[in-house]
Amino acid sequence: MARFIDELRRTHYCGDLRAADAGREVVLYGWVARRRDLGGLIFFDLRDRDGITQVVFDPGFSPEGDIQRLVGQDDEVWPEDRVKAAYSLAEQVRREWVVGVRGVVRHRGSNVKKDLATGEIEVMVSELEVFNQAETPAIPLDDEIDSDEETRLRFRYLDLRRAPLQKTLRLRHKLNQATRNYLSNAGALELETPIICKYTPGGARNFLVPSRLSPGKFYALAESPQLFKQLFMVSGFDKYFQIVKCFRDEDLRLDRQPEFTQIDIEMSFINQDDVFRLLEGLMFTLFEATGAADLKALYPDGTFPRMSFHESERRFGNDKPDLRFGLELSELTDLAIEHDGGGIPLMKAIVDKFADGTYRKEVPEEIIKAFVIPADAKLSRKQVEDLEKGLKEIKGFPGLGRAKVGDDGSWSQSPFAKVVTDDFRVALNAHVGAKAGDVICISMGKPAIVNAALSKLRLEVGKRMELIPQFGHGGEWKFLWVVNPPLFEEDGEGGFVAAHHAFTRPIDDHIELVESDPARVLCYRYDLVLNGVELGGGSIRLHDPDVQQKVFRVLGIEDDKAKELFGFLLDALRSGAPPHGGIAIGMDRLAMLLSGAPTLRDVIPFPKTNQGIDLMSGAPDRVEPSQLGEVFITTTVEDAPDA
Ligand code: AMO
Repeated sequence: MARFIDELRRTHYCGDLRAADAGREVVLYGWVARRRDLGGLIFFDLRDRDGITQVVFDPGFSPEGDIQRLVGQDDEVWPEDRVKAAYSLAEQVRREWVVGVRGVVRHRGSNVKKDLATGEIEVMVSELEVFNQAETPAIPLDDEIDSDEETRLRFRYLDLRRAPLQKTLRLRHKLNQATRNYLSNAGALELETPIICKYTPGGARNFLVPSRLSPGKFYALAESPQLFKQLFMVSGFDKYFQIVKCFRDEDLRLDRQPEFTQIDIEMSFINQDDVFRLLEGLMFTLFEATGAADLKALYPDGTFPRMSFHESERRFGNDKPDLRFGLELSELTDLAIEHDGGGIPLMKAIVDKFADGTYRKEVPEEIIKAFVIPADAKLSRKQVEDLEKGLKEIKGFPGLGRAKVGDDGSWSQSPFAKVVTDDFRVALNAHVGAKAGDVICISMGKPAIVNAALSKLRLEVGKRMELIPQFGHGGEWKFLWVVNPPLFEEDGEGGFVAAHHAFTRPIDDHIELVESDPARVLCYRYDLVLNGVELGGGSIRLHDPDVQQKVFRVLGIEDDKAKELFGFLLDALRSGAPPHGGIAIGMDRLAMLLSGAPTLRDVIPFPKTNQGIDLMSGAPDRVEPSQLGEVFITTTVEDAPDA
């Protein structure tokens, strides 16, 4: 080992060498990705984090011309004994062994490998050192492999050796660097906040950490630095940012991990537009730094479009619309009211509730909406039925009312066909823009369920019609700010819960409504959406104690309870809190979108499965009863199954 590393320092990474380096003496270190023995001639593909270089063992070779020597080396360029020893050693080397080579760069002549960055050259080896042997790898390490994800996660350190993952983690490095530069230049201070902290209700479910020093008490792992970053504003730091790990014990999905990273930001003396400007600039910078796209060309005025939450729900059925394609939903409630249900009993039942005042137009308890599957989608009846089956996972979804539109505008394959009045059918066809061969899918009921079903259907049909790819950006980047959602949500028992969190400021015109009509109060909350993914969210905070108190009352939180739950924040807000607001961007989601990966697992170095398990280390795991005893815990689970 002493000669290589101590004496023969690495001169290049394996992705560095080009034709201009021919005639140069070099030292490379890396892993043997491939080895070919042609008898008398041995080739390695030597790989490191930067690429692959072909290295050649050819005892018959001798370098010609001027050699650009290694600094500090004045021994022979082609020492016969070492060359022979290198060849013999190379015969024994296997895949993934870790080696160092010294040699001379040679142009490959007519054998240039165009698909390899270093394909113009090869390194003729004069010395070889084996640093370490390796067992046969459990998964192939090629760019494209078909090993199942479970095995890849079990051997994540090998999977991470593969070029696609190396590339993705480099992208994350660039995102981190560019974020820090941009936000520091914008005057934000990078400050840290506690990871183990006090449990506060609302938001996502927290992971709990038992305290050894305070028997029977628990910390929570921070689901975000929310309260602390607000305290920074109270303390006068003015602008804060942090690239921070957050922890949430939620049900996991493709775009949710229990442990994830946010670009977290908070600012004082600002309004919503200031937050948007800073974030738009950040996105422009990050896209440029990673070479993903020239956002300036796509958004020449430097801003992303905005849409109100209600408009987004109405047109797309959710608050994170994918604007890469149309196929918008249609509201039918008003039309049904106009036609008194149009002969369809289910609609009539809803219409009657508006007539007798049970439902209010501003905040209807039930709605009627439609999505049209275009004839162009060329979906068979069975395929449409399968799509509908896929919606059944939405809790409370009662099914769709479908109608296939004939050449004359008639309906078939529909439970409504026999009962619908001609007037309503004609009006409805016109209203949703249905043409012959289209299938109108109608959903009725609670807005949350109707919208969840139809927005899912829209996305599925968009993918089937190849208007958007199954995964990835497809070369399109559609940003959108979704703004001003309701502050409160009804809890189903006559009360309200905070739709986001209790410290969001109602929009100025709605402060009056907080007490009189909470359901209608909209707030300064905003989400940044990219290609149908919620990239980030934030709000202008409620720094005014009077309005704060009113909001708590709507939430049924009495003063004493508020003190108990949020004591330190409430005290802080009364001790000179500037107007402030902020946002957090999901760094993992951004990396996922930029790299076109289908899941967050592909952009997180050591991710968990959808069951929250780290297959490589086996976490979570049982611990000894004595360890539990130390933190004053007993478990009710006798035999936890093995991971
Ligand atoms: P929010 O809860 O909306 O806001 O989170 C902000 C962003 O973080 C990302 N994110 C996640 N990414 C991966 N896995 C998860 N489980 C996960 N949960 C959230 C999303 C999301 O948009 N404190 C507030 C921000 C603020 O108001 O300033 C907050 O955390 O991309």
